This record gives sequence, C-alpha cells and structure tokens, in this order.
Amino acid sequence: MEKKYPESKVELTPKIAKNYDKIMNVASLGLYVKFIRKAIKSMGISPDDKILDFGAGTGRNAILMNKYLSDKGEILGLEISEKMIQQFKIKTNNIPNIRVINQSIDKPLNLEEKFDKVFISFVLHGFPHSVRKDIIRSAFNALKDGGEFIILDFNEFILKNTPFYFRIPFKKIECKYAFDFVEKDWKNILHTYGFNGFEEIYFFQKYVRLLKAKKE
Ligand SMILES: C[S@@+](CC[C@H](N)C(=O)[O-])C[C@H]1O[C@@H](n2cnc3c(N)ncnc32)[C@H](O)[C@@H]1O
Repeated sequence: MEKKYPESKVELTPKIAKNYDKIMNVASLGLYVKFIRKAIKSMGISPDDKILDFGAGTGRNAILMNKYLSDKGEILGLEISEKMIQQFKIKTNNIPNIRVINQSIDKPLNLEEKFDKVFISFVLHGFPHSVRKDIIRSAFNALKDGGEFIILDFNEFILKNTPFYFRIPFKKIECKYAFDFVEKDWKNILHTYGFNGFEEIYFFQKYVRLLKAKKE
C-alpha cells in the first residue's frame, strides 16, 4: 500500500501490520499488555455503549473493550489496512456486536448511527495537522450529544526538554508528524471543535495520555 502521508508511521506496511501486536509486546518489554488493559479500563465504558474505533488495528483493543459491554453494546472498527482487517476479523470472529469496515478516517464518514464513544489509539499523532482537524470533526459528527472522544496517544511535552534516553529513540522511531503533535495544546484545540469536560489519565511517566473530551 502506498502511503498517502509520506512521513506517516501509522500507515503500516503489510509486514508490520501482520506482526503489530507482537512488535508492541516486544518493543515495550512486555509492558504493553498490562498498559493497554489499564488504559481501556480507564475509558469508563458503560454496558450499552456504542463505540467507534478509529484505526482499529488488529482487534486487540476491541476484544478488551468488549469485556465491559453487554449484548446491547457495539463496536465498529474503521481500518484501511487489509492485514489489520484480516486479523481483526479472525480475533473477533464469534462476537456478533463487533464489526470492522474498510473506511479511511481522513474522509467524511457518513455513518448511519451515532456513537457514545469514539476511540482513537495511537493514530492521531501520525497525520499532518490539517488531517487531524478533519478527524476531530468526523469524531464530533459521529458522536451523540454527551458522547466522548477518547484519545490514547502521546501526552504533551516539549521534545527538546525531555531526557536524552527518551528523546533520541523517540526522534529515531517516531514519524515526523508526532514531533508537532506532542507540542500542541490538545484541550484547547478540541475545545474549538465543540468538546469540553476534559479528563486525563497518564501512563509511562506521563509520556502517554488517555484524554477524554465530551461533546457538549
Ligand atoms: C499504530 S496503529 C494503532 C492500531 C490500534 N489503534 C491500536 O492501538 O492497537 C495505527 C493504525 O491506524 C490505521 N490507519 C492508518 N491510517 C488510517 C486511516 N486513514 N484510516 C483508518 N485507519 C488508518 C493503521 O492501518 C493501523 O492499524
């Protein structure tokens, strides 16, 4: 698949997509599994929630979110990588209230239903800022009134002020789009798109944040 955004590292090659969960487990020295469980628990999912998952990945997050849902709850994953969609479908095979569709989140969505939560995990940082704005607009439009946009991603920090043992690997591994993502005031940006009532939960020495923003 050719990249639409040349500097993006969230547009994955088929090989990386196929091994994504393994790569995350190994790169985090096994810490990722515990972290993602905790992060998803912090989402505050209600049993009947309808959740839209932007850049849904392998389905690992969907399976974890589904633990908090009743039969009335639903998860709809939006993905563009065929390898991810394949894995998502295999992982969630017997679960009727979880679906995934091939849909890019950088275009208007035109979905028939409205959602209680839009979740975006380690995706938003990987786009140019103008595209992030389109994604925020789409999240807002897809939510019910009172619904929440939940962003799990890097926290805000000034990259040059971070310790070298974080800064050097971050600059080497992460895409260039992430460099300006971490230096933006996200609550302020989200506020200009109609979001309020922010809640933040931090992980990994505050380098990662779960940011909840309410459509009010
Ligand atoms: C870094 S992975 C994160 C996957 C998942 N959210 C997670 O936390 O495990 C980024 C994901 O975003 C997907 N993606 C990238 N660009 C996208 C787009 N324009 N629309 C939908 N999904 C996209 C990729 O295929 C990949 O699965």
